[in-house]
This record gives sequence, C-alpha cells and structure tokens, in this order.
Amino acid sequence: MAEIVTVEEHVSGEAGPALAGVVGAIAEAARQIERRIRVAGLHDVYGAYGATNVQGEQQQKLDVFANDVMKAALVGLPQVAAIVSEEDDAPVVFERAGGEEPMFVAVFDPLDGSSNIDVNVNVGTIFGVHQVGTEGVQATFLHRGLRQVAAGYVVYGPSTVMVVTTGTGVSAFTLNEDGVFVRSGEAMTMPDKGPYYSTNEANVASWPVVYREYLARLVGEGLDGQRYSARYIGSLVADFHRTLLKGGVFLYPPTEKAPKGKLRLLYEANPLAMIAEQAGGAAVNGPERILGLTPEHIHQRTALILGSRCEVEALQTAVLEWRA
Ligand code: AHG
Ligand code: MN
Ligand code: MN
Repeated sequence: MAEIVTVEEHVSGEAGPALAGVVGAIAEAARQIERRIRVAGLHDVYGAYGATNVQGEQQQKLDVFANDVMKAALVGLPQVAAIVSEEDDAPVVFERAGGEEPMFVAVFDPLDGSSNIDVNVNVGTIFGVHQVGTEGVQATFLHRGLRQVAAGYVVYGPSTVMVVTTGTGVSAFTLNEDGVFVRSGEAMTMPDKGPYYSTNEANVASWPVVYREYLARLVGEGLDGQRYSARYIGSLVADFHRTLLKGGVFLYPPTEKAPKGKLRLLYEANPLAMIAEQAGGAAVNGPERILGLTPEHIHQRTALILGSRCEVEALQTAVLEWRA
C-alpha cells in the first residue's frame, strides 16, 4: 500500500513546521468547505447572501461561509500575523506577541467561481502565504508574488484536490474518505504546450486588438503545429487545474468593463502564477511577469494569461511587439 503522506507532513518536510501549520489550517478549512458544498442543496447555502463585497460583487452565501471558515482556521495560529481576503475590505491583523518565530500573512479567495455554486459546477479556494519581513506586517500585504513562501488552491469537484508549492515543485493532495488530504501527486509539470485555450469569448470584441489577433491564431492555424479546442468552465481554479494537467493557456485580457483586468493580483493571479512557474509554465499580465508586479493595493486587479510556456510566451512576445 502506498505510503500515506498528508499535506501538512509534506509541507513540513519541504519548508518546516511553522509554514506547514499554516497550510494545514487552510487544508482543515477546505475540508469543512467541501463538506458544506457536497450537501449545499440541503442546507440554505445556495443563492445570494444579500450583501455586496468590496469588489462590488453580490456575495453568495457560500462565499461568506467559506470566508468565515478560513478566518476561523487561521486566527488561532500564533504564526499568522494577518490575513487578506477577497471578501473583506481591509486586512485582518491579529495581535501577536513579537517573538523569534517566523510570522506569516495568508491571502486568499475563499470561494472562487461563485457564479457556478448553484449549478453544481467545480468551485475552488485559492491561497498565498507571505513571510513577514523586517519591514513589518503592513508592508507584507504589498509584497510581489515572487516573495510568496507557499501558494496553492483547492478544487472542489468529483474529487477534492489541493495543489501546493513552497517553491521546490508542485504537489497534489486528494481528500480521502476520512477527510484527510493525502499526497496523490509530486513534482507535477505542465505540458509545454497544450490542446486547449480557455477564455470568455463573449469579451473578445472589447479586447485590445493584439489579443484578438492572438486568439484568431489559436483558433485558425494554431501555434507551432498545435491545433486547439476551447474549454471554459468559468471557475478560474477549475480552468487552471485543467491547464496544469493538460496544457494550454487561460486568458482573461483587459476588457472595456475591466480595463485593468478582472482577476485579483494578490489572491488569484499570484498564487496560480507561482504554481504555473513551479510546474514549468508561465504567467503574465500581457507584457509583464505576474510574480514581478508590485501591488499598489490589496484588491488590485490584473489581466491574467497563464499556462504552458509556448502559448504564454507567444502572447507576451506579441504584446511587447504591439506596444513597441
Ligand atoms: P470569484 O467567484 O472569486 O469572484 O471569481 C470569479 C472569477 C474566476 O473564477 C473566473 O475565471 C472569472 O471570474 C469568470 O469571469 P467571467 O464570468 O467574466 O468570465
Ligand atoms: Mn475568484
Ligand atoms: Mn471568490
């Protein structure tokens, strides 16, 4: 029988017990979220919560539930100095006695793909972890994605899988019958090009022309002999997880409605960009590497093109030439 390694044991071996405790708490929160999603139709968690979040979006009841569960799991950890959530206007800073222990800030999208909750389609949780440096907790909120010490996501689907990196490769953990995330994949790599492109084509007319020309290439003659099929689930985590396993490219370019992009830099783009790069893929905002961007505020949005190196680099080259 294969050796059972839990996500906390794996992260502890890679990056030490303090960071493993943070990732383990996120795994425990994900287990509770999964349990609620699995029977959502029987508990009053479908539908809108009746409030609007800082994003200006209608909060779904499951958004609020997942956010409460994630915060409850992290508030009790002495090594967590603060959290940033998609669902909260401002960071939540915990009073902690200063000590020698490493301190961390967790940033997260507690429930990604809210529009898919009520129709029983994959949703997810996305998280990144930063270590508090000498510049203090407040400065940590605006660290570049390069400084994440851990990142990952949970995709709630036919099975529930947690994908994590601490900077030395990508591993996957599947929630087993006992509610434990058990290692099911190691040293995961993304195909260097893939059969799929993934985007909301209803927005194409409002993209900058270079993105329209790029998509026409994928749909037409393809890239380097690769022809493409379209896949779009509308939950970033699910669209990314397929891209990690099968290859290809996910695109959310600037649109008229969201000229700076729709997706959030801190807790959607950065964590997935770290996973993508650690798996041999790439992630850009068009011209620039996502992980190199310095956030100006915690809910900053960005254009996001991520996936296999071949497709992402072809897009980045096209945008840089278009801008030149
Ligand atoms: P969230 O549910 O956390 O607000 O995220 C939704 C995001 C992301 O999951 C997905 O890729 C994107 O919204 C879909 O946007 P469109 O409906 O505009 O395609
Ligand atoms: Mn999201
Ligand atoms: Mn969300």
